[in-house]
Amino acid sequence: MKAKDIFLVALCMGGVLLGDAPGADVKKLPAPDTHGGIPVMDAINKRVSGRLYDKNRAVDDQTLSEILWAAWGVNTLGKRTIPTARNLQNMKLYVMTEQGVWIYNARENQLEKVLDKNLIPHTATQGFVNDAPVHLLYAAQDDQWGRCHVGSAYQNVYLYAASKGLSTVIRGLIDSDALTRELGLTGGERVIAHQTIGWPEK
Ligand SMILES: Cc1cc2nc3c(=O)[nH]c(=O)nc-3n(C[C@H](O)[C@H](O)[C@H](O)COP(=O)(O)O)c2cc1C
Repeated sequence: MKAKDIFLVALCMGGVLLGDAPGADVKKLPAPDTHGGIPVMDAINKRVSGRLYDKNRAVDDQTLSEILWAAWGVNTLGKRTIPTARNLQNMKLYVMTEQGVWIYNARENQLEKVLDKNLIPHTATQGFVNDAPVHLLYAAQDDQWGRCHVGSAYQNVYLYAASKGLSTVIRGLIDSDALTRELGLTGGERVIAHQTIGWPEK
C-alpha cells in the first residue's frame, strides 16, 4: 500500500494529525461544528493569552478544523468569519508542523501543502513555542487593512479557545522576513503573525 493510501485509510478511521501523514499534500478536514460553545459574552470575558501548553496532548483534527474555521472559515451566510476591507478576502492562513506548511482552503475545508520544510524555527524566539502542538501563520497585505484582517482572525481564535478550554497567544516576535521569503510571498504580501495553540499545561 502506498503512503498516500495508508494516510487515506487512517483518515477514514479518524483522529489523524497533520504530522502523521508524510507525503500527504491535501488533508481533508472534518466539518467544523459551528454550533454551541459558551455564550459569546462569557468567551470575551475569559479571553486571555496562554503560553503554557501540554506538549503531550495533541489537538485533534475536529478541534483544528474549528480553530481554522473560526479564524478564516466561511459561515452559514456564505461570508468569511471575519470582515475584510472591500471584501477582498485576501488573507492567507497557514498551519505549520515540523513536516512542512499547509495553507487553509476554507471553501474546500482542507489543508493544502505548500512547503516541505520546517519553518517553526523562524518563530521560536520564545521557549514555549516548541511545546505548542498547533502553529498558525497569518499572511496578508503589508498595510493597515491587512493587519486589521489578521487581528480579526486571531481574536476569533482567542474566543474559540476561551470557549473550548484551549490556550493560545498571538505572536509578533518572529522572523517575518525569512517566513515571507520561504513561503514565496510577493506583491506586497507578508507574514504578519504567528499563533500558538494547545491544551493548557496541567
Ligand atoms: C500584535 C501582537 C503581538 C504580540 N506578540 C507577542 C509575542 O511575540 N510573544 C508573546 O508572548 N506575546 C505576544 N503578544 C501577546 C501580548 O503580550 C498579550 O496580549 C498582552 O501581554 C496582554 O495579555 P492578554 O492577552 O493575556 O490580555 C502579542 C500581542 C499582540 C496583540
